[in-house]
Amino acid sequence: MKLNIAILAGDGIGPEVTGEAVKVLKAIATAGGHDFTFTEALIGGVAITAEGTPLPQRTIDISLAADAVLLGAVGDNKFNSLTPDKRPEAGLLAIRQHLGGFANLRPCLAFSALSNNSVLKPEVIEGVDILFVRELLGGLYFGQPRSWDKETGLAINTMVYTKPEVERVAHIGFQLAQKRKKKLTQVDKANVLECSQLWRATVEELKPQYPDVTVEHQLVDSMAILLMNQPKTYDVVLTENLFGDILSDESGVITGSLGMLPSATIGGKVNLYEPVHGSAPDIAGQGKANPLGAILTAAMVLRHSAGLEQEALAIEKAVNAVLAQGHRTADIAKGGATANTSTTQMGQYVLD
Ligand code: NAI
Ligand code: MG
Repeated sequence: MKLNIAILAGDGIGPEVTGEAVKVLKAIATAGGHDFTFTEALIGGVAITAEGTPLPQRTIDISLAADAVLLGAVGDNKFNSLTPDKRPEAGLLAIRQHLGGFANLRPCLAFSALSNNSVLKPEVIEGVDILFVRELLGGLYFGQPRSWDKETGLAINTMVYTKPEVERVAHIGFQLAQKRKKKLTQVDKANVLECSQLWRATVEELKPQYPDVTVEHQLVDSMAILLMNQPKTYDVVLTENLFGDILSDESGVITGSLGMLPSATIGGKVNLYEPVHGSAPDIAGQGKANPLGAILTAAMVLRHSAGLEQEALAIEKAVNAVLAQGHRTADIAKGGATANTSTTQMGQYVLD
């Protein structure tokens, strides 16, 4: 298997955690006789410093020519005085647009060794394995008109969805459910919103094409409660942009740390893989960052860009094993555990 991966490590802890993820990918390549190549490019604050822009053309070219893009994080306090369009974060928004992915996959996987990390009861979260499929390019975040008139005090945002926009992401949700536990929960607010009624009707229309998938519809407000009360009952959760943003963040309670969460954005020209966390300037350069979110992101690269499901599972198993052995970076040293592992040590344990 040949795979050309663009590495956009970025700022702060980005390079630290991405380095560990790349080591894991190299180990998988060596063990399986795969030909993975890694091409590094600048994004964010490091790109501003070197080239005066958060997303140089070379980075766009390398990313578009790659089979997958693995991004660390962007953001550096020293650029806080710049206008938003010049700051490191502008590079992230721009690369997402260039790559064009519309389906944001956010797994919520509970590792048994971390069940004391959550404020939820261990018996509620043990075995949780949810995959959020969040529509990323539509809805309230992009709909026109939008405005805020400070004189009159009138602010407007518009929720817009077209049927093709719903169909393309719904197909992805169904197909992922087929590869998992074959259950799709579509979340909306169909008792109030027309957009939600479109989502519900579209999913119902596609359902006969996936007879092996069980479909249920859930209102977002009750879903917010159900997710905390019975997270084990969910498999794929399909929803629109705003609801997906909120519910997937809420599900972070289950894993207990931002440093554990991977993500992938698929459906565009090239898939974009990134841990959910940011550049964490408060711990950057100290060897304290948890690389497991980035390493689990590497597993998603193998699953969604290379079709290497067994290898992805092997990484997830290795993460579970190192946690079970008691290795903890500071962010996951809760519930009586103590921090005893650096970023590179944690990466090495996964490799071992
Ligand atoms: P953050 O995710 O960087 O950090 C939030 C808290 O979680 C911090 O206390 C940090 O130390 C901790 N944390 C995050 N990742 C961790 C890890 N892997 N291991 C251990 N602890 C971890 O979010 P924050 O502080 O709001 O933003 C910092 C910078 O990152 C800002 O410039 C922001 O714009 C940027 N950012 C970038 C994102 C991206 O590149 N995708 C996403 C979110 C924020
Ligand atoms: Mg969010």
